[in-house]
Amino acid sequence: MFRNSLSKLARPTLARAQLPRNVRGLKNINFGGTVETVHERADWPREKLLDYFKNDTLCVCGYGSQGYGQGLNLRDNGLKTIIGVRKNGSSWKAAIEDGWVPGENLFPIEEAIKKGTIIMNLLSDAAQSETWSSIKPLLTKGKTLYFSHGFSPVFNKLTHVEPPKDIDTIMVAPKGSGRSVRSLFKEGKGVNSSYAVWNDATGKAEEKTIALAMAIGSGYVYETTFQREVYSDLYGERGCLMGGIHGMFLAQYEVLRENGHTPSEAFNETVEESTQSLYPMVGKHGMDYMYDACSTTARRGALDWYPVFRDTLKPVFRKLYANIKSGAETKRSLEFNSRPDYREALEKELDTVRNMEIWKVGTEVRKLRPENN
Ligand SMILES: NC(=O)c1ccc[n+]([C@@H]2O[C@H](COP(=O)([O-])OP(=O)(O)OC[C@H]3O[C@@H](n4cnc5c(N)ncnc54)[C@H](OP(=O)(O)O)[C@@H]3O)[C@@H](O)[C@H]2O)c1
Repeated sequence: MFRNSLSKLARPTLARAQLPRNVRGLKNINFGGTVETVHERADWPREKLLDYFKNDTLCVCGYGSQGYGQGLNLRDNGLKTIIGVRKNGSSWKAAIEDGWVPGENLFPIEEAIKKGTIIMNLLSDAAQSETWSSIKPLLTKGKTLYFSHGFSPVFNKLTHVEPPKDIDTIMVAPKGSGRSVRSLFKEGKGVNSSYAVWNDATGKAEEKTIALAMAIGSGYVYETTFQREVYSDLYGERGCLMGGIHGMFLAQYEVLRENGHTPSEAFNETVEESTQSLYPMVGKHGMDYMYDACSTTARRGALDWYPVFRDTLKPVFRKLYANIKSGAETKRSLEFNSRPDYREALEKELDTVRNMEIWKVGTEVRKLRPENN
């Protein structure tokens, strides 16, 4: 149903999409009628960051996706950075491979925290809770506690992570994986992040947070609160980003198969055309542009059916949001991810996904893509 050439209707939208991007320096941006303040890295050149953090030691605890991306970017920016991870664990080995040196800038977690002034807690969310009793006594006055997710402090009744009141507690949450944090930085660009202050003991917490956001390699930084960040993050990944879209793909595919369509046809009409042709257009130019690029038949049908899907799914999204607000999702996540066998249990469930007909068909369809011929 995708049209190869753009209709006349599409042209004005295309022209709009090709307008130059926002000019650097712009701080107040009108997002669909709501003006929000956005900070940008142009205001924090490297020299300013070096001066701002000249008396600090940035202690990155954890070397998973974010510890890797943020830690290496801080180091490349010339800031005094150390890594704190479990000795001889897989992160310890990964850090050594990336050039961190034991006893010099790589230490066991508690030793690193003692040496650091800004403690960046990038352990897994479950580990932040598990290790809190040993970390908390080391967070003495004058240090700063930093997170990349609102999870631990917001759900403190479940996590028991109660930051001390006499230190700044702040957050920078990159809107991308640590791999993107790193690769965008290496390309001279920056990942977009949100930031928030949980506790401002010094009166300077907000400025410090924005500076740190730029130091780890952010481009634009949006203001949020710890609570809004964690609620929207948990909601998004369970919804349109991962769980919801997976469920919708399955529902559409299964009905096509029930009605006698072949696996390849069902896959092409569900996953292949969406991810390869239409969703990239939505990402690049917006939903209206994607509509404009499709046939009148497709447009008529989609315009009639999107309200049906929205109204049918809204109660599910409301239930999901309520589950997040009540802490039920956090409780489930903490319980599951603290199990000693959580990696194996997760792998078992992922294996079920891997072996679903739809995703096995995907493996074959991908081989037939034009770029693979
Ligand atoms: N990943 C993302 O895309 C993303 C994006 C934005 C924000 N965040 C947030 O960033 C933070 C870090 O997430 P991540 O994905 O980078 O890391 P992660 O993969 O969730 O966590 C990995 C780190 O936690 C350590 N760890 C696990 N269990 C431990 C325990 N019991 N004791 C001590 N260390 C333990 C691991 O060390 P070992 O190797 O020794 O096990 C590893 O260094 C989280 O708050 C997350 O929500 C993540």
